[in-house]
Amino acid sequence: MFFDRPDIGEVSILVHLSIESEVERDDPTEFEELALSAGAMPVAYITGSRKQPSPSHFVGSGKLEEIAAAVQAHQAEVVLFNHALSPSQERNLESYLECRVLDRTGLILDIFSQRARSHEGKLQVELAQLSHLSTRLKRGWTHLDRQKGGIGLRGAGEKQLELDQRMIRQRIKAINKGLTKVRRQREQGRRSRQRAEIATVSLVGYTNAGKSSLFNQLTNADAYVADQLFATLDSTLRRIQLPNYGPAIVADTVGFIRHLPHQLVVAFRATLEETAAANLLLHVVDASNEDHQEFIGQVNDVLSEIGAESVQQLQVFNKIDLIPGCEPRIQRHENGDPQRVWVSAKTGAGLDLLQQAVAELLAGSLVETTLKIEPRQTRLRSKLYAQGFIEHEQIDDDGFYQLRVRLPRQDLERILRQAGTDILILDRKPTPGAAAGCVLDKKVKTA
Ligand code: GTP
Repeated sequence: MFFDRPDIGEVSILVHLSIESEVERDDPTEFEELALSAGAMPVAYITGSRKQPSPSHFVGSGKLEEIAAAVQAHQAEVVLFNHALSPSQERNLESYLECRVLDRTGLILDIFSQRARSHEGKLQVELAQLSHLSTRLKRGWTHLDRQKGGIGLRGAGEKQLELDQRMIRQRIKAINKGLTKVRRQREQGRRSRQRAEIATVSLVGYTNAGKSSLFNQLTNADAYVADQLFATLDSTLRRIQLPNYGPAIVADTVGFIRHLPHQLVVAFRATLEETAAANLLLHVVDASNEDHQEFIGQVNDVLSEIGAESVQQLQVFNKIDLIPGCEPRIQRHENGDPQRVWVSAKTGAGLDLLQQAVAELLAGSLVETTLKIEPRQTRLRSKLYAQGFIEHEQIDDDGFYQLRVRLPRQDLERILRQAGTDILILDRKPTPGAAAGCVLDKKVKTA
């Protein structure tokens, strides 16, 4: 990776200022966790407040002295700011403090680069790092040099910077090409799953909620689990067999967090959008965390941002082993559909109930029906064929197609919405094994 990365145990000074316009970011504990996640060893935490950041050094002169003294006293190697710094602020701070400075975006990028596991995730992080780096070239070029072994990097001074810019552009081009290829492969995979009518269940949730642990428990896989933020950066797919239902694909996805730098939301949009295509979201919540309601809201906000707000959700209240007297159970909506399952990924308590609830919802979300479409709607017909939704078809006396389809309820609702009045439903019934009371026009839940 290109960007500066604090090595394990790098002696760090943390700086957090309360800025009037950024009150909601006042969460020093989370910042410390982020630093630890990056492998830093915080030795001092300097706080303060300011109305406005100073344009030159972000902090005022008094605070700058205080940070410099702490750097000296602890022989710190890096100063981490819980704020986005401009490239010039970062440079000014570095030259004054004679020590590396990393802002919040750089820190999160660093964590992401350490955690990305799939080829796509690695490319996505590198792209985000490059765009962050390109504005900070003066300090970044030596790393490019190291990465490329100096080839094409002869010369110095201005020429050097021009070369760096060109190299970055070339690398960005190569990454984008690579990303297009993996996305195409993923799209193909998704289509063949749809053709095979295998439902996808995506685990989503605030970072550290226990998604990877649950994923492992459900799939007996060995996804990377760490008590660190963002242990998961890529969606990892595994096939499972659900009792009384059949096969399904479970996807583990990236953990969500507040104040995710915008370029990272953009960088991971493609991975996150995969969640929007899922048949069911398992919204994993650390029920033992007293802020869990707030985290649920944060996760739902991100889900809306990526267009996944209408995908059916089942809340999984995890870590009940940490709540005295809390027993595994399924909580249901008024119509009887499962709404929330209380489990412990650690002890395995309630996992059978979770499987049962998932099977119930998946069975309920597949619908079998006959659609009547006009002969001119060939595009819609071939789309339904391509997705493997058509069981059989016949042409009626008026020349209309009667298509017997079997598909997830949300897909049917989308098709009906897009087609407007040009489509008729001749009958409707949930597939065998569907949850009682499941009807087509039932409002899709967002839990
Ligand atoms: P990110 O990848 O950061 O999004 O995290 P995640 O949601 O995938 O969480 P992960 O599975 O990595 O678990 C985070 C921490 O919580 C780990 O230390 C787990 O061992 C712990 N953990 C997960 N489930 C449980 C549980 O049911 N009980 C307890 N006590 N700890 C759990």
